[in-house]
Amino acid sequence: PPDVTDIEAVIRPFLALEGPLLPMLHALQEAYGYVPESAYAPLCAALNITRAELKGVLSFYHDFRTRPSGKHVLKICRAEACQAMGATAMADRLLKKLGLEWHGTTANGAVTVEPVYCLGLCACAPAAMVDGKVIGRVGDARLDTVLAEVGA
Ligand code: FES
Repeated sequence: PPDVTDIEAVIRPFLALEGPLLPMLHALQEAYGYVPESAYAPLCAALNITRAELKGVLSFYHDFRTRPSGKHVLKICRAEACQAMGATAMADRLLKKLGLEWHGTTANGAVTVEPVYCLGLCACAPAAMVDGKVIGRVGDARLDTVLAEVGA
């Protein structure tokens, strides 16, 4: 994991901003693919917040990862329109098949499955996203294809 000097270099440009925490977290995730635990102390010191406050923010925003992701990231929409089209049960089946919980990564490191809250593709629900590319009207078969493609 990156050390304090690395972390400070990433967060320093945002210190003068009003409300710098989210930009800092985004920058860290951009740099490392997740927000490493080694960043907690420098962040708390820089912003004068507690570790509990920081953790609260990290868990409130579903976009932040606190562990490295697998090689590929599969996001399944869990918002209303997709739920109405059976996304919840579909996601349950997927996670069960892979033996994962949300945010989990397959043992071979191929894919991480994450929830997302509306991909703007409600008309084509249920929606998913693979490595930043959205796909609409996904079903079990389509997910199987995706899993095969990413080597899960
Ligand atoms: Fe799933 Fe909008 S609710 S894409």
